[in-house]
Amino acid sequence: MRRPFIAGNWKMHKTVSQAVALVDELIELVGGDQGVEVVVAPPFTALYPVAQRLKGSNLKLSAQDCFWEEEGAYTGEISPPMLADVGCAYCIVGHSERRHVFGEGSDEVARKARALLAHGVSPIVCVGETLDEREEGRTIKVVGSQLQGSLEGLSQKDMVKVVIAYEPVWAIGTGRTATPYQAQDMHAFIRGWLGDSFGGGVASSTPILYGGSVKPDNIRGLMAMDDIDGALVGGASLKASSFAQIIEGGKG
Ligand code: PGA
Repeated sequence: MRRPFIAGNWKMHKTVSQAVALVDELIELVGGDQGVEVVVAPPFTALYPVAQRLKGSNLKLSAQDCFWEEEGAYTGEISPPMLADVGCAYCIVGHSERRHVFGEGSDEVARKARALLAHGVSPIVCVGETLDEREEGRTIKVVGSQLQGSLEGLSQKDMVKVVIAYEPVWAIGTGRTATPYQAQDMHAFIRGWLGDSFGGGVASSTPILYGGSVKPDNIRGLMAMDDIDGALVGGASLKASSFAQIIEGGKG
């Protein structure tokens, strides 16, 4: 049985004091065992103070991105061992904003995923098609090739620690959610792809999250689908009350 998994991606929001205030409110509301894996992904500057607050709670910490080298002359970058040291259990890689705003390719996503795994940090690997790609009927091809490229070089053993997030680009921050059926179709495809590539054990145990305008009023419909195990939430994770309601809805 896969445990429900709800992650909040704060993107480039929250100063340190705002981040600490938000996480304190969240701990108050959902800090105990919810029967759900609850993860918050603050910006880099807030990781350390948020990690201090999370101690003793059931909430887990994630970064939003990383570089694949361990250390060196890479101005502006943050490495997997630095994230492990600050207390990150997870790190998002290949988010559509990284792919589309910063031009990242799946080969880079895979390098990041491998480097994170080498340091005990679980990658949350994001895939998803644009509106044009969907309208041209290329969704399966695009997502299949993103999976292939982004998980390149990972072993069956590595996959035990990997989380996949399906985030159709046209649904991110637009208020336009995929219907539960549209999302389920893609989640079933992804699970099938995982089975073909890594075996049935990996396919049945890997959490596959949906992301794209998830809100308190649509989480239950999404979670009712067989292959949707949780959500990667952007905008609605920036307020404790709405994120807590999504966690509640995530319990199914
Ligand atoms: P959104 O973002 O919930 O604001 O659409 C989701 C995401 O980008 O992870």
